[in-house]
Amino acid sequence: MKVIHLVSELRQWRKEVGSGRVVLVPTMGALHEGHLKLIEVARELAGPKGQVGVSIFVNPLQFGPNEDFGRYPRELEADCARCESAAADVVFAPSVDEVYPKDRSVIILETSLSKVLCGASRPGHFDGVGTVVAKLFNYFTPDDAVFGTKDYQQLAIIRRMVRDLNFPLAIHGVDTVREPDGLAMSSRNRYLSTNERSEAPALRGALQLIREAFHAGETSAATLRGLALNHLSANAPSGALDYLELVDAENLQPVAEVNSHTVVAVAYRFSKARLIDNLELA
Ligand code: PAJ
Repeated sequence: MKVIHLVSELRQWRKEVGSGRVVLVPTMGALHEGHLKLIEVARELAGPKGQVGVSIFVNPLQFGPNEDFGRYPRELEADCARCESAAADVVFAPSVDEVYPKDRSVIILETSLSKVLCGASRPGHFDGVGTVVAKLFNYFTPDDAVFGTKDYQQLAIIRRMVRDLNFPLAIHGVDTVREPDGLAMSSRNRYLSTNERSEAPALRGALQLIREAFHAGETSAATLRGLALNHLSANAPSGALDYLELVDAENLQPVAEVNSHTVVAVAYRFSKARLIDNLELA
């Protein structure tokens, strides 16, 4: 497995690969089993003759001024070992200066899907995500890229960007990998205190409660939301709700009546970690 830090070297690698299939997995590192699942899927897509590229870059553009850019875990050596054991072919881990010219002035601005849910509480976040993902697509010119449905809104925005700007690649979504108690794996779970960690599975519990009530015939979004909020305040009292919304799977707009095309998305703040999760009601 190659580890590359410079864009010029990555371009050279890409030239050498030629017409073989290239599958990209963008990450910010601190890799866990969720990321490794994406690399596994990428490996299957690429086949034995194709190439799997993993990018590891903590992207300053997608962090707000009071967010955790400074303390986001950076563990490149261990991450490279994880990528190698997941049979990746190349890791691209550039510096911030390598990615962003000091006087950069062009960004990707998505104007609809990025305004709700996490976009409402993290202004500018998805501009940063879109911009770095577009750049990664330009560096790798992959045939495919693999993302997790855990970041449901991110995936929807990237699909929209690819569609609207005609990036010539296919996007693949992979189901969320969870801890045995249901908590979605996340690089940020390590920020949870022992007590918060014991409460955190309530996020998944709240989403499942909505799905069960929907399957039992309840379709009022307000009623379903109420059930979930009660569950969260009873089972995760140390944290605070950022949002819990029932939205259309395609346009991410809130719905009053839910159906099998509805997604429930939740964001919850503990003292040092903001956690997200979602569930499709289908
Ligand atoms: P990061 O949080 O490192 O996540 C990288 C990829 O792993 C994303 O596609 C995310 O949805 C997926 N992922 C995270 N946790 C997962 C889990 N438990 N199960 C399955 N997949 C999971 O998302 C980002 O980085 C960045 O925003 C990025 C797209 C790299 C742009 O900077």
